[in-house]
Amino acid sequence: MLKIRPAEKKDAFAVATINVLGWKTAYRGLIPDSILDAIEVTEKRIKRTEETIATVEIYLVAENENGVVGFLVGGKTKNKDVPYPYEIYVFYVHPDCWRVGIGTALINAFKEKIKGRSFCVYMLDGNTKALNFYQKMGGIRQPEFDCDTEINHVMTHDIFLGFKGKDD
Ligand SMILES: CC(C)(COP(=O)(O)OP(=O)(O)OC[C@H]1O[C@@H](n2cnc3c(N)ncnc32)[C@H](O)[C@@H]1OP(=O)(O)O)[C@@H](O)C(=O)NCCC(=O)NCCS
Repeated sequence: MLKIRPAEKKDAFAVATINVLGWKTAYRGLIPDSILDAIEVTEKRIKRTEETIATVEIYLVAENENGVVGFLVGGKTKNKDVPYPYEIYVFYVHPDCWRVGIGTALINAFKEKIKGRSFCVYMLDGNTKALNFYQKMGGIRQPEFDCDTEINHVMTHDIFLGFKGKDD
């Protein structure tokens, strides 16, 4: 049975593994292979994940009988010009478990945590799976808030989606 719960320090290895696998699977063809092939689950990455779990406002994991299968990191919106109080910072489901409702369960738990307020997300342009997913969840594209990001000296374009809450 799927359970959504706050992340703990002991989840850092599983979370880092899903993060790395997610990058290599979802971003193939969008980010150069040389960058994706070099990403590994290092001690440094696990330590950084432990630190984030200890400090970030909202860090949720999805767990089933096989262990942790997805995670979502969020909190207050980082770009103060954006009219949404909350933001999803990082969100990955293990590629072996896509399309069985884990992403939906994580988003629903996030919405509960932020008490139904508005939130937003930035995602890599061309990641059509995520775009379909977010649009299915009610996200509306707002190109005026799109931005460019640099990943290891490569410029990428991030698209913005807003999710209206109950009272915002
Ligand atoms: C985006 C992501 C989190 C979705 O998680 P998921 O657990 O597969 O999503 P769900 O099973 O809850 O899907 C819910 C609905 O979203 C839509 N959807 C999800 N994946 C889709 C895909 N690959 N193609 C088309 N629609 C998709 C469907 O409408 C789906 O409902 P359905 O399966 O009944 O048709 C997952 O694909 C992922 O981890 N991707 C890599 C990382 C990433 O892109 N993260 C977001 C970056 S900000």
